[in-house]
Amino acid sequence: YFSLSVTVNEVEALRELFNQLSSSILDDGLIHKEELRLALFKTPAGENLFLDRVFDVFDEKKNGVIEFEGFVHALSVFHPCAPLQDKIDFAFRLYDLRQTGYIEREEVRQMVVATLLESGIHVPDETLEAIVNKTFADADSDKDDKISKDEWKAFALQHPTLLKNMTLQHLKDITTVFPSFIFNTEVED
Ligand SMILES: *[C@@H]1O[C@H](CO)[C@@H](O)[C@H](O)[C@H]1NC(C)=O
Ligand SMILES: *[C@@H]1O[C@H](CO)[C@@H](O)[C@H](O)[C@H]1NC(C)=O
Repeated sequence: YFSLSVTVNEVEALRELFNQLSSSILDDGLIHKEELRLALFKTPAGENLFLDRVFDVFDEKKNGVIEFEGFVHALSVFHPCAPLQDKIDFAFRLYDLRQTGYIEREEVRQMVVATLLESGIHVPDETLEAIVNKTFADADSDKDDKISKDEWKAFALQHPTLLKNMTLQHLKDITTVFPSFIFNTEVED
């Protein structure tokens, strides 16, 4: 995991933001999926595979809610000042839907389908297969039919648009108010 080093004042600010988000729908001191959706997409409804994965990754105790600690981890990745490497690592965890340590063809396919559906686009299976084939032709350099973490890093660096939504610009507001936010890339695992 990534950690964020903050001063006592900043922890209070984060705590305040957390309190706000965690009471936006249900005032119980926990962030539910609908509340995260509201915060990220400004709408409380709708299916979104991306949201599901973000939620799963930060639902650190796997109990269906995000607690304060998971919330701080989330901010440390999506913040505009967070290191690119953290965003790349996080995106890998998001796309590795089955958590096998590799991104597989079926996972790429599901993400592509989900992304196109969000834009209301439906493509024939053959087109989909061609997109997946192209992704693997570019990303799977050792041709073992799965994308490893290193292959993903190389691919993401060549295709920075893949990471563009790993940054939530409005999180910058918090650092405008509390300019001494320091991001720390230490990996705790
Ligand atoms: C980020 O991208 C994914 C897939 O490309 C999409 O499903 C999701 O809605 C995007 N998230 C944001 C916050 O724009
Ligand atoms: C995708 O790749 C597979 C195996 O490499 C191949 O059999 C198939 O014809 C390709 N499909 C398209 C649409 O390019």
